[in-house]
Amino acid sequence: MAISDLKGRSLLCLADYTPEEIINLVELAADLKKESHEGRRGRRLEGYTLALIFEKPSTRTRCAFETAFAEEGGHPVFLSPNDIHLGKKETVEDTARVLGRMFDAIQFRGFDQGVVEKLAEYSGVPVYNGLTDLYHPTQILADLQTIAENFGELKGRRVVYVGDARNNVARSLMLGCAKLGLHFTAAAPAELTPDSYSVDQAREFARESGSEITITTDPFAGVAGADVVYTDVWVSMGEEDKAAGRLKMLDPYRVTADLMAATGKKDSIFLHCLPAVRGNEMTDEVIEGPQSRVFDEAENRKHTIKAVLLASLGVL
Ligand code: CP
Ligand code: NVA
Repeated sequence: MAISDLKGRSLLCLADYTPEEIINLVELAADLKKESHEGRRGRRLEGYTLALIFEKPSTRTRCAFETAFAEEGGHPVFLSPNDIHLGKKETVEDTARVLGRMFDAIQFRGFDQGVVEKLAEYSGVPVYNGLTDLYHPTQILADLQTIAENFGELKGRRVVYVGDARNNVARSLMLGCAKLGLHFTAAAPAELTPDSYSVDQAREFARESGSEITITTDPFAGVAGADVVYTDVWVSMGEEDKAAGRLKMLDPYRVTADLMAATGKKDSIFLHCLPAVRGNEMTDEVIEGPQSRVFDEAENRKHTIKAVLLASLGVL
């Protein structure tokens, strides 16, 4: 399976991609990073257009898509809910068909996974999920690239997600790890463990890749042996009304220096998709500490997103 086989493909959820397709994208991103650090820029997207629909705010995802696309000579167009009729005055299906006639590709960040799926079904162009309530697939490509940069081989690495493990990032990370043979543990309060559908799905992928999916409520036992300790905000976008309960429930799941030490491994790393709320999901000491790789991870959003764009638009 060559990377050129991804031409025309949408990226809605990592479950739709084979392990080989995911690896190909992560390896391409590593090449693009090298290219970028050497100051080499292509014109591979000259004359191409990309619609960027954002129902929720974004720093990394928007900037990664805009800069990656523009650096290659393409023209990205940012569309907030105030700019287009999507889902209000016009159906998603109609918007998709119109955008598909004007743009080469569409990125969607929003609430409903059903919307990004409809955009892909009706537009006839590649559609990228830039985060929904359910999934955040482009984030996980950057996470895998960062893990590979630190450890080389991905297979057999131990990734432990601590905190709100039923959110979009945790669910996607679990699927990505299961696909590629990394062991995945979710350490979370019983109310916030990943949903059973996704756990079953991940366990099926894990059976094929030879990894294990573990769910525990004990953060200290959970991180033992971890190569990667990963966390995300305790209150995701759109859940602001749940903040008070979450802070109380998740207090024992804060990633502290003691929790990092409980991995028992000096070379374990700390990852966070960002934005981070310091003092909530991790201490300042951890995010600023020597094990933190969060800014490499943020930078890798751009290289992995460029890989997805070039591969799906068939311009490699
Ligand atoms: N990690 C991530 O998706 O960040 P943004 O919300 O800033 O895009
Ligand atoms: N779980 C977070 C991720 C932000 C990138 C959210 O959905 O707000």
